[in-house]
Amino acid sequence: MLGVSGGIAAYKSAELVRQLCAAGAVVRVVMTRAATEFVGARTFQALSGEPVWCGWSDDRSGMDHIDLARWADRILVAPASADTLARLAQGRADDLLAAVCLATEAPLLLAPAMNQAMWRHPATQENVQRLAGRGVQLCGPDAGEQACGDVGPGRMREPEALVEALAESFASGLLAGVKLVITAGPTREAVDPVRFLGNRSSGKMGYAIAAAARAAGARVELVSGPVALEVPAGVACEQVESAQAMLDAVLARINDCDIFIATAAVADYRPAAPAQQKIKKQAEALSLQLEPTTDILATVAALAPRPLCIGFAAETEQLEQNARRKRMHKGADMIAANRVGDGQGFETDDNELLLVWEGGERLLPRTTKARLAVQLLEQVANLYARRLSSDNETSQPYAKHSA
Ligand SMILES: Cc1cc2nc3c(=O)[nH]c(=O)nc-3n(C[C@H](O)[C@H](O)[C@H](O)COP(=O)(O)O)c2cc1C
Repeated sequence: MLGVSGGIAAYKSAELVRQLCAAGAVVRVVMTRAATEFVGARTFQALSGEPVWCGWSDDRSGMDHIDLARWADRILVAPASADTLARLAQGRADDLLAAVCLATEAPLLLAPAMNQAMWRHPATQENVQRLAGRGVQLCGPDAGEQACGDVGPGRMREPEALVEALAESFASGLLAGVKLVITAGPTREAVDPVRFLGNRSSGKMGYAIAAAARAAGARVELVSGPVALEVPAGVACEQVESAQAMLDAVLARINDCDIFIATAAVADYRPAAPAQQKIKKQAEALSLQLEPTTDILATVAALAPRPLCIGFAAETEQLEQNARRKRMHKGADMIAANRVGDGQGFETDDNELLLVWEGGERLLPRTTKARLAVQLLEQVANLYARRLSSDNETSQPYAKHSA
């Protein structure tokens, strides 16, 4: 949940909501009355796709302060005005936001934003110390030029840094110190300088896994085909187009990689001889000669030593058999199979996955891709830990890094 209080920096909170949603978060915004004088509730509603609360009068259930307090995994107040800091420090419940903050058991993060003299004032400093002493996490403020013309501490931390702080607050440490390389999105294979062969992959699953892996403490490098998604905070990303460029980018960063997750929908075939000039329209039929591309997952799985290799299988039929066959054929450690077609799989926000590995399987029922990513990584971390311990027993250099 995002609390927005009354300060100039409230305009930055709109961008913050956009970035949080892009990272897969469900964001509900609670504004103070003063905040509504700086930014309209509709802005937050449109960006979050969720209802927005501007005070007690927006109470829908009669118990919204308790419902919101229980619903939230995290509460971030950004900007946190001097007045809101003071009221939170006192434990007041004189508006909806303060009441939710008092009623919640979720971790509370505050991003103060105010004039430098207000920030430096002993009253504000005492309030901040009191809040920090209760385990509230202070994010910022940053120092620099202020809207009033002063220079000094009091600027709200930038949205990117706040997204990162939230991600870190979720960090399970499950993959701390582990390096992941993840491919995502479609590839484009040139037919001529203006046309390509592509596919319907949106990249949402791969980006959700990248965000969840980062939140679990991993170092994440994403190799992405062309998608309309924002790179999750803290994730390094190389944008590529063709299957060959994706393979090259993966091989360039696979040396010190512990876990490789191939979610990209990579073209199996590409035009054998893309035209150098735009192909002109003609009356006769046109034939394209296609040649196979190099299989990225199988290539990485054949390396020695190699990372733990996880592949995705998009199937329209016989999910389990095809997933098991694909795992054996590619030499992967685990395959996450999903049904595609009829509105399932690609371009959707939720999905269902069947995970198969040697001697086991697990069905992850339909839910958001963000939640699936977390569940998938739990299984991946299990497999990784198991392989590390069996490598230690047999002294085989399966992976080079320990978790
Ligand atoms: C133009 C203008 C800008 C303001 N900017 C800030 C600010 O950046 N930080 C702050 O703490 N208060 C600022 N204030 C004062 C707060 O809006 C005021 O203290 C208000 O009571 C805060 O209420 P809230 O904490 O319930 O949102 C500003 C006031 C005005 C009129």
